[in-house]
Amino acid sequence: MWKIKNLKINSHVVLAPMAGITSSAYRKFMRRFGVGLVYTEMISDHGIVYQNEETLSYLNIEESERPLAIQIFGGDKEYLLKAIKYIDEHHIPHDLIDINLACPVPKVTKSGAGSKMLLNLDYLEECMQEIVKVSRSPVSAKIRLGFDNEHINVLEVCRILEKAGVSLIAIHARTAKELYSGEPHFDLIKDLGKKLSVPLIISGNIFNVEDAIKAKEITGATAIMVARGGVGNPELISSLNHYFETGEIIYQPNIVRQKKYCLEFAKLLIEEKGEKKAMPILRGLAPKFFFKMPYIKTLRNALTERVITYEDLKEILDEFIPDEE
Ligand SMILES: Cc1cc2nc3c(=O)[nH]c(=O)nc-3n(C[C@H](O)[C@H](O)[C@H](O)COP(=O)(O)O)c2cc1C
Repeated sequence: MWKIKNLKINSHVVLAPMAGITSSAYRKFMRRFGVGLVYTEMISDHGIVYQNEETLSYLNIEESERPLAIQIFGGDKEYLLKAIKYIDEHHIPHDLIDINLACPVPKVTKSGAGSKMLLNLDYLEECMQEIVKVSRSPVSAKIRLGFDNEHINVLEVCRILEKAGVSLIAIHARTAKELYSGEPHFDLIKDLGKKLSVPLIISGNIFNVEDAIKAKEITGATAIMVARGGVGNPELISSLNHYFETGEIIYQPNIVRQKKYCLEFAKLLIEEKGEKKAMPILRGLAPKFFFKMPYIKTLRNALTERVITYEDLKEILDEFIPDEE
């Protein structure tokens, strides 16, 4: 157990924010495997302020999903503050307001948001101080090591965030320029978790238990953030929890259980979004449940190409995989 201010978190495994993936259904699904804290995908402050329908749908959050961080992005303090006020006034269930200072995508950085904020530290400081003042719930931030190799300023940014009064910092241990590839640079934030006055969550290439052990040991982080490694691989969460509780590494994914998980997730996603919106997402995500499995290529192709309805998904999986071990 660890704490973010007074909030108790039961697991050292945290579910990463992922645009297009971390829907309410995905969060509920992954919670069953033992994540201690979940994030929404990043939500536009402008979208909230202008009441964009799609943006507001990201705020359909159930009480049962807590502990939860709502992640917002924006490059303009006034809009960030208005978006936070909207969330508070509409009593949207959440425990943390997380500010995205990490996104490298031009659509986001062109307005000064996401990782672009790491290049303007005076403005960052001003924004974060006011956000902490205005938000009724604790504030956290997700950052990168810096914008690019010439601007690695993670330690300075952490000092600014601490001074502003944030309650939690998550670091994706790459620069924004590196996007999502290459090895994360945990060595650049060696023992940082031990030096910060707030808990540190570490992110970057967590695909198995050994990756998590390495990231946590080098950085001294309190918790591990699971992103791509958990997509279609929910037992990564339970095996991480098992390791943190017992020191034992057990990870034996099994195709029959993977089939069950895929169908469970499909049902939750259809419940959330309706079949028409859910199926294109499932054509992208369902194949991920069957990586590294036998006859995988034919199955994955069938899932990507032939799945129009839930029944199609079930039929294809039944064709390849039995219900019982
Ligand atoms: C498809 C995708 C979408 C992402 N969306 C977000 C996001 O909305 N907010 C955010 O802070 N990070 C986002 N990230 C970054 C992840 O939270 C995580 O920090 C990153 O993927 C590194 O972890 P990994 O190497 O274990 O995947 C996204 C990553 C991916 C792959």
